[in-house]
Amino acid sequence: MAIIDKPLARNMSLHVSSHPLVQHKLALMRDLHTEPMQFRELMGEIAQLLFYEATHDLQLTSVNVRTPLADCASKVIWQRVGIIPILRAGLGMAEAMLQVLPKSCVWHLGLFRDHHTHQPITYYNKLPPVPNIDIGFVVDPMLATGGSLTVAVDILKKWGLKQIKFVGLIASPEGVDVMSLNHPDVALHLAGMDLYLDERKYIIPGLGDAGDRQFGTG
Ligand code: PRP
Ligand code: URA
Repeated sequence: MAIIDKPLARNMSLHVSSHPLVQHKLALMRDLHTEPMQFRELMGEIAQLLFYEATHDLQLTSVNVRTPLADCASKVIWQRVGIIPILRAGLGMAEAMLQVLPKSCVWHLGLFRDHHTHQPITYYNKLPPVPNIDIGFVVDPMLATGGSLTVAVDILKKWGLKQIKFVGLIASPEGVDVMSLNHPDVALHLAGMDLYLDERKYIIPGLGDAGDRQFGTG
């Protein structure tokens, strides 16, 4: 895994949503007084808005639909879509995205950061031998050092998945640089890009621990 000590010239697709709904809801999520129930609702709402943006280039095929009155030349998505939450914190986003595209597969990847080394540890992966999806959207609210996302994408590429995008809430510049070095082909769709990582590798200003705030475990 690459370690970065200077900002890079990034050669990747990076989208930070400037949509007022996204920015408004992100501000509410950041607020330390926001309780887990509202935090989860906001996370789901932002995830759906970002998913709308990140799926803008899904491929369509022509079909004929019979309405009650006539035939109608229509279009439907032909690609098999996978939503891949990184446990635990990606769960709330994935659930909401599944409501938007209910036929998606959900493949969970279990990764947590060791509190001392900040390195990701993999604890859950039940991917089948061969990919059953054409495009995978990895979801995790926080992109901090970039270690967890790098390992998640390593796993998916080794599995054989060719098209991967990331949907997250907040990234640090360090995390984006690490992804641009390790996986420049993975487009990043974010609600916010923050300032830096503190000594515990938390994103500043960030929103704290996304898993704890979602599930009330802090
Ligand atoms: C958080 C977050 C990411 C990871 C980001 O998970 O949800 O998965 O940290 O950090 P990184 O970019 O430095 O790897 P955490 O390890 O706290 O696990 P949890 O979701 O189970 O709380
Ligand atoms: N994980 C979180 O939940 N928050 C951070 O700021 C960094 C990693």
